[in-house]
Amino acid sequence: MTVIFESDCNRLRVFSALTGHEGDGAAQEVEAGLATSPRTLPSKYFYDATGSKLFEEICELPEYYQTRTEHAMLEQFGPEIMAGFAAGDLIELGSGANLKIRALLDAVDKNQRRLIRYVPVDISETALIEAAEHLLELYPNLTIMGLVTDFHHPLDRLDHSRKKLFLFMGSTIGNLHPDQATEFLSSVTALMDEEDRFLLGLDTIKDRAVLESAYNDAAGVTAAFNKNILSVVNSAMGADFDQDAFEHLAFFNRQEARVEMHLAARHDLEITVGDLGLRFTMNEGETIRTEICRKFDRISAEVMVRSAGLHIAEWYTDAEETFALALLEKRSETG
Ligand code: AVJ
Repeated sequence: MTVIFESDCNRLRVFSALTGHEGDGAAQEVEAGLATSPRTLPSKYFYDATGSKLFEEICELPEYYQTRTEHAMLEQFGPEIMAGFAAGDLIELGSGANLKIRALLDAVDKNQRRLIRYVPVDISETALIEAAEHLLELYPNLTIMGLVTDFHHPLDRLDHSRKKLFLFMGSTIGNLHPDQATEFLSSVTALMDEEDRFLLGLDTIKDRAVLESAYNDAAGVTAAFNKNILSVVNSAMGADFDQDAFEHLAFFNRQEARVEMHLAARHDLEITVGDLGLRFTMNEGETIRTEICRKFDRISAEVMVRSAGLHIAEWYTDAEETFALALLEKRSETG
């Protein structure tokens, strides 16, 4: 990792592990996804500038309870979660606009806060630096070490003499298939020492109607977010997807405990992906799956984290069990 940014005040330093070759496997990944049944597209293609804006809008929707419930829970349980971490590193994986970390920083006494180091980890260099500079203004005695990387590079900048609290919020883990989740969680476990903790945000299994309306909002923002993936693939791969030829589809698959988002062809279609030299047809009603959002209860969460050498030390929920925060620790070698 190399230093790419240092603030005048010396309280912010940003390292990057990115080499510029991160997009190299993209073509094969898209090609493989479009060849499966159902066809799929990688969810990471949602998040160009337009998609990131739309996602921010989703977080404000009345139907989308996740963001505001998680935030309220961080405010409620923050003091308990932060007890013992006042002189450690807060390492937030996928930090984005880092609104969530404020709830945890606010849970700590001002004098203890100066001993905390915040370590945002994100793939977007500009988003990370902007958000970090803003945070410095809000918290004048905070120290920040930003790490720009994707999850294929090791986080070799961590200071293992400091106590660490890892954070992976927003139920983003739910976008991963079980084997991918195990791999991702295991890579975090490998960075943890015995006293370290890992706070994981999880959406819970609940009424179908509540889950489905969260992904079928009345204002149509989620539909626009879903269709935007087609524009991203069009620009990135020279494809000719027409947003208007697809219908937004989101439903709860109870068997798999996940919400699925798809794009369904409104009529028979022929699609070309120029950069891949690929041409295929879709029949009316055929779908492309664009995202899975897995939902958990305490038992399925325990199964998942166990597969990565972790266990649930504390399980926090709101009164209606709308959302959960799992505080994880490493499973002892003997347990
Ligand atoms: C950011 C992945 C947690 O799965 O609910 C929101 C993304 N997709 N509406 C989710 C999303 C449709 C969101 N995550």
